[in-house]
Amino acid sequence: MPLLGMRAGLVGRRTVLAVMCWAVVLAAGPLRGQSPATLNPSASPATAPKSSGEKIPPPLTHYLGREIATTMHYSGAPWLVRESRQREEDCKRLLAALKVQRGQTVCDLGCGNGFYTIRLARLVGPEGRVYAVDIQPEMLDMLRAWSKKERLANVTPILGSPIDPRLPEGEMDLVLMVDVYHEFSHPQQMLAAIRKSLKPEGRIAVAEFRAEDPQVPILPLHKMSKKQILTEFSANGLRLVEEFDGLPWQHLMFFRRSEERGIGAPP
Ligand SMILES: C[S@@+](CC[C@H](N)C(=O)[O-])C[C@H]1O[C@@H](n2cnc3c(N)ncnc32)[C@H](O)[C@@H]1O
Repeated sequence: MPLLGMRAGLVGRRTVLAVMCWAVVLAAGPLRGQSPATLNPSASPATAPKSSGEKIPPPLTHYLGREIATTMHYSGAPWLVRESRQREEDCKRLLAALKVQRGQTVCDLGCGNGFYTIRLARLVGPEGRVYAVDIQPEMLDMLRAWSKKERLANVTPILGSPIDPRLPEGEMDLVLMVDVYHEFSHPQQMLAAIRKSLKPEGRIAVAEFRAEDPQVPILPLHKMSKKQILTEFSANGLRLVEEFDGLPWQHLMFFRRSEERGIGAPP
């Protein structure tokens, strides 16, 4: 399994199967072999809405030495809610590490079909709000159906663009990105917009599969090292405030706004 860089003997058969599905998902659909650039505008017309007059610059293929991954297609959404996800990623532990409080305003950025959105909505309760942003309307349709089934009235789906999550400014207590950031075709614009969306003490939580660990059975382009995350976030006016190392496959790093800007920071 050259794509996955893992030794099958070290994990269970179900894990191997799940990972194979992931590899298939990533290789399938209209995104195969395309750069993030072609992928994002083609994911949906709404990713670059003509009516808004939003000008989307050409996407990057690399950022600060890292090759940017293509976006996971919505046809792979079942993988995000697979039965083995809790065991493989310890999602409950990730959620607990966020220390989300009732009544907070949080964003699940790159929400997919809503695995974390639904759980966050329960944590913030009816007096809180979850903004769920994705660039694929099909993902948001799945999330809407799920929220309705769960009778959650505190979820606001937002169709973002590759350069703008379209969040209200200065309102977020927390912006969560799970397995999303490495797909951004315009990381600088996205980080600048996320930064603006935060309350002064608001936090960003970024979870990425560990590039340093060959045992993590995920395609290399869909992993990131701590060093790379730190380089990219600190270059965009964000400072590391906390790290949580208790997840089986992922880094979980927390950032707040910083007044210092590094190389490549937005104005
Ligand atoms: C691997 S999925 C992860 C979904 C979800 N966070 C989870 O853990 O279940 C990545 C998602 O990020 C979305 N995405 C990629 N670039 C984005 C952007 N610039 N803004 C919002 N969503 C984006 C994709 O459409 C996809 O649904």
